[in-house]
Amino acid sequence: MRHFTSVKQLGNLGDAFAKAFAVKRQPFADQALGRNKTLLMIFFNNSLRTRLSTQKAAMNLGMNVIVLDVNQGAWKLETERGVIMDGDKSEHLLEAIPVMGSYCDVIGVRSFARFESKEADYGEEILNQFIKYSGKPVFSMEAATRHPLQTFADMITIEEYKKTAKPKIVMTWAPHPKALPQAVPNSFAEGINMTDYEFVITHPHGYELAPEFVGNARVEYDQDKALRGADFVYAKNWAAYADPDYGKVLNMDRSWTVTAEKMALTNNAYFMHCLPVRRNMIVSDDVIESPQSIVIPEAANRVVSAQTILKEILLGL
Ligand code: CP
Repeated sequence: MRHFTSVKQLGNLGDAFAKAFAVKRQPFADQALGRNKTLLMIFFNNSLRTRLSTQKAAMNLGMNVIVLDVNQGAWKLETERGVIMDGDKSEHLLEAIPVMGSYCDVIGVRSFARFESKEADYGEEILNQFIKYSGKPVFSMEAATRHPLQTFADMITIEEYKKTAKPKIVMTWAPHPKALPQAVPNSFAEGINMTDYEFVITHPHGYELAPEFVGNARVEYDQDKALRGADFVYAKNWAAYADPDYGKVLNMDRSWTVTAEKMALTNNAYFMHCLPVRRNMIVSDDVIESPQSIVIPEAANRVVSAQTILKEILLGL
């Protein structure tokens, strides 16, 4: 594997899960693989899970790790070409990227959608510049349109907890006070569409995701109807995708919060969320604290997903 930007690059899911569970069983089996290899993790946005789990994964593989928070301590970076740099940005990404590439063997990049231009966001301008100019393998630690390491961890978790071969998975929009990217729901939809599970996406009118991510999922605007019989409830907020409302919060309808009453409609479903989560906006305290909540093992599997992908990248060096 050279670059990893989408769960579609996992290929055969059975093989991908087998590799992940081998990593989970024996996390230190490949310590020699990363010896004298350096991972550079570059964050344009905040992170808790991605930062810690990817660093842990790299250390399990024997790698050295450098972390750069672009917005704290580095020169402010210009990302647009053709700009007269007479403002507060001292360095252009087009010099910074190859310099960063010269210090490492593998690069992880976190760069959220900015909601300034759908074209720029959905063109993955930042991530693609790293791929084009760093000269090194690049993997996404959440980009504008996808969060593949999260989705792989979600899918590993579902594989561990599912009680039937074809569980019903419901991804539900839930309210949030800020505009959040579509990367997690897009990516989750992309991943679940690679399975033969029953898949329903539910959200209020106006929050339709891009059709290429919705794929074969059934879209249901009645959340209660969608939740009936669910085996897994995957909650997430996202801002509007469709024009002219791209990147906007259209409402904060708290009747969409995942509560115990909502979960009672399901087939004793497991509750999932990528975290961080705003309690009593996205999900009630009692649901996230219930035995059916698997958000902690889901987050723990971020090490497994990152290590499985990093191992594949190292094997391809
Ligand atoms: N789920 C996730 O990516 O968490 P962080 O933003 O904390 O990395």
